[in-house]
Amino acid sequence: MSALLTPSQIVHRLDEHVVGQEAAKRTVAVAIYAHYRKLAELVTDAVEVTKSNILLIGPTGTGKTLLCETLSRILDVPFVTADATSLAQTQFVGDEIEAILLRLIDRADGDLERAERGIVFVDEIDKLKSIGGTARATSGESVQHALLKIMEGAPVRLQDGRHIDTTHILFICGGAFVGLEQILSRTHTFGFISTTGGDDQQILERLNARVKPTDLLEFGLIPEFAGRLPIVTRLHDLTQDMLIRIMTEPKNAIFKQFAAMLRADGVELRITHNVFRQIAELAIEYKAGARSLRGIFEEMMTDILFTVPDNPDIRRVSIQSLFEAPIIDRDAA
Ligand SMILES: Nc1ncnc2c1ncn2[C@@H]1O[C@H](COP(=O)(O)OP(=O)(O)OP(=O)(O)O)[C@@H](O)[C@H]1O
Ligand SMILES: [Mg+2]
Repeated sequence: MSALLTPSQIVHRLDEHVVGQEAAKRTVAVAIYAHYRKLAELVTDAVEVTKSNILLIGPTGTGKTLLCETLSRILDVPFVTADATSLAQTQFVGDEIEAILLRLIDRADGDLERAERGIVFVDEIDKLKSIGGTARATSGESVQHALLKIMEGAPVRLQDGRHIDTTHILFICGGAFVGLEQILSRTHTFGFISTTGGDDQQILERLNARVKPTDLLEFGLIPEFAGRLPIVTRLHDLTQDMLIRIMTEPKNAIFKQFAAMLRADGVELRITHNVFRQIAELAIEYKAGARSLRGIFEEMMTDILFTVPDNPDIRRVSIQSLFEAPIIDRDAA
């Protein structure tokens, strides 16, 4: 990996791709910095490393995977994602976990040592209920046990006879944990954390929003598993304003992509703020976070992208409303 970035530098880089989610960005940046700094020191001092695996909690489509992907790119470390539910669907969890580690080695271009400093993102961790249904090949609990071992750090023997040591691999787990709010409001008693006496309201709010390991047990996580995820942070539902920014601001924002595509055909694309607002409104209705933005956007653009290549005289396309035909300007004949 490249020179060690400070937490604020990490957040700054994340800001280029991930809109909002400030609390999650800061927490992750601090944890990552600590993790890789400990690793760097370990080389010289043989300091004992306690690993700070991270749990990201947040609704679907709010940036959990995007955050991890961006992070691994910034840090220039190998990165793989795995799906907890598919781990529970296989009969041989061990093989599946080995496959994940093999993919990590692959991402490290076969460099075992580099892979041993990588990041593994395990999504949908909240679906690993310990009292699993009968439809599953492997119970969620045994998947948790299998993950537990590699999260803590263990040499894993690969089919080709090599061993990969997972001690310094950083594990980030993700999940939507639907219904967590209700559990939190039940388990956090005001009075214990008092709101009187000039306490800083922000600190109180943070403490009250804190997710405790016991809250996670309600989702079927076994205590040993929850205990190995010491850092918990949350991503929040995206507001209309954030959705609009997602379409327009990040380096590869959808609007920029389509504008570039049309520019290649010599056409300028203009879209009013009203349109972005309408798309964001629809996306909120679809309840899939930012994930539905692309679909809605593409649908709006299909006719235009179909028409433009056959009409070299088109100079500009202006969209004023999602529900009205675009205005097309052509070269004077
Ligand atoms: N905060 C965000 N900033 C910028 N883009 C975002 C953000 N959240 C989501 N997106 C966009 O939505 C897409 C889906 O987001 P992502 O895959 O990160 O969701 P997720 O939180 O991992 O959801 P799930 O729980 O369903 O896996 C991303 O590829 C990205 O384009
Ligand atoms: Mg995801």
